[in-house]
Amino acid sequence: MKANKILVLEPVAEAGIRLMRDAGLDVVDVSKATDDERQSQLADATAVIIRSGSQVDEEFMAKAPHLEAVARAGVGLDNIDLVAATRRGVAVMNTPGGNATAAAEHTMALMLSVARHVAPAHGSLAEGKWDRHRFLGVELAGRRLGLIGVGRVGSLVASRAQAFGMEVWVTDPFLSDDKAASMGVTRVELDRLVAECDVLSLHLPLTEETKQLINAESIARMKPGTILVNCARGGLIDEDAVAAALESGQLGGVAVDVFPQEPPKSSPLLGHPRVSHTPHLGASTQEAKENVSLTLARALVALFRDGDFSSVVNLPFGGADLRKMAPLLDLAQRLGRFQGGLLLGAPQRVELELATDDSEDPAPLASAFLTGLLEVVCGPEVNAVNAQLKAEEMGITLSHGRRPGEPDFPRLLSTRVSDGTHMHGVDGGLLAPHTPRIVRVDGQWMDVEPVGDLMVLWNQDRPGVLGKVATLLGSRNINVGELRMGRDPQASQAISVWQVDQPIELEVKLALKEIAEVEDVRQVRLGAKRSRRV
Ligand code: 3PG
Repeated sequence: MKANKILVLEPVAEAGIRLMRDAGLDVVDVSKATDDERQSQLADATAVIIRSGSQVDEEFMAKAPHLEAVARAGVGLDNIDLVAATRRGVAVMNTPGGNATAAAEHTMALMLSVARHVAPAHGSLAEGKWDRHRFLGVELAGRRLGLIGVGRVGSLVASRAQAFGMEVWVTDPFLSDDKAASMGVTRVELDRLVAECDVLSLHLPLTEETKQLINAESIARMKPGTILVNCARGGLIDEDAVAAALESGQLGGVAVDVFPQEPPKSSPLLGHPRVSHTPHLGASTQEAKENVSLTLARALVALFRDGDFSSVVNLPFGGADLRKMAPLLDLAQRLGRFQGGLLLGAPQRVELELATDDSEDPAPLASAFLTGLLEVVCGPEVNAVNAQLKAEEMGITLSHGRRPGEPDFPRLLSTRVSDGTHMHGVDGGLLAPHTPRIVRVDGQWMDVEPVGDLMVLWNQDRPGVLGKVATLLGSRNINVGELRMGRDPQASQAISVWQVDQPIELEVKLALKEIAEVEDVRQVRLGAKRSRRV
């Protein structure tokens, strides 16, 4: 395995670090080091593990030229420039769900804290006062909670709030009526939810669309005395508008675990008597830390050891079961490399068709194929993350589709690549799940194991040609492992694929072309048995 340096930039539970080290990854924990030390370690880092305290942008990635993965120990991706990462082929992964219970419980803690003035009452008692009348609270029971966003965390808050006797209203474009019914919540539009709930809690990511969703205008539409809870992202609320509404009484109380800038420097909410605040502790439980660390560690090991992209969020396709498709993805990438080796000019058109009776989506296969093809054309910086983007930038037209499976080949992957002048067709199939084969080259059936260094030769179909080629290879001390042939008797043309123990040098290629019957020769490099990457 290639030595991969996984740089831990922010604290994660030891269990994940151990798991990665046991799997042979080189893990360097600089979470407690100085800023300078952390920066200097970026130079040869293959992956970084971060939490919400790091900004991964162009500037960051420029300092980490070997970066292949950014692993977010947590759910929020707003501190990662996904567009820049994708362009660079940097895989981004997170751990949705691992800290959802922790975040939901913290939401309830803050909600109760505001309702019962826990924070100011605690402070008052600590100052030696016994003030039993100043901190008159309200009950959650019987009140209406409005959840803005009901993903993993929001759903857990809903059931906990229901246990407290709250009526729960939700707004979320991704929630179906059936799901809402099964959760026992009422689905309403955002405007109505904001205007008619007693407590509002935010559970959505920070994006351009959701930035300052809670602002002077939306606050003005709330019921006077509404309680606002934000354990999601600081940027979701306009803090100045929230502070003003606390003064006017439009907001009865506010709880925040997150701030637009962390740590907050000049937040108007800091120290306010009707604000309960914590320093981004939503995910800070032992259980969540361990879950997240282990999930991330497994995802990184899968990526670097098995080329398994299943946990990557910035792939150009989603929803496919990549683990199940791994053998086909590997085949597609090898076919791409094979086609790359046949090219004489830049690829212009790529067509891929999967013949299958199963339900596999050809889109991930097209990406894997492009990865193999563009590895040959552009170099190793191309991978499954950026291959499609690279192809678009190069003006390559890509089409992919499916057709019913062929009786002899239940899964046959047909590919065609044109450089504007020449078009080659290469088909591959799986004899067994992990037994890929190239079965057709330019219309000629054959049976080639797509591994190692191959020499592809087009020649006139006459006696003695193979002997001449073999003699020439022998004279250059090039060992031939296997030879496969296909031919078109009508056209008197043959194609042969030679598995050789070393790459064919230009001088050998030129010498081969001197043989009268040899029409063309190409060198194809497919790599070891299984690709590191899909
Ligand atoms: C998350 O996005 O998962 C939470 O905000 C937790 O962030 P943290 O790992 O920085 O505590």
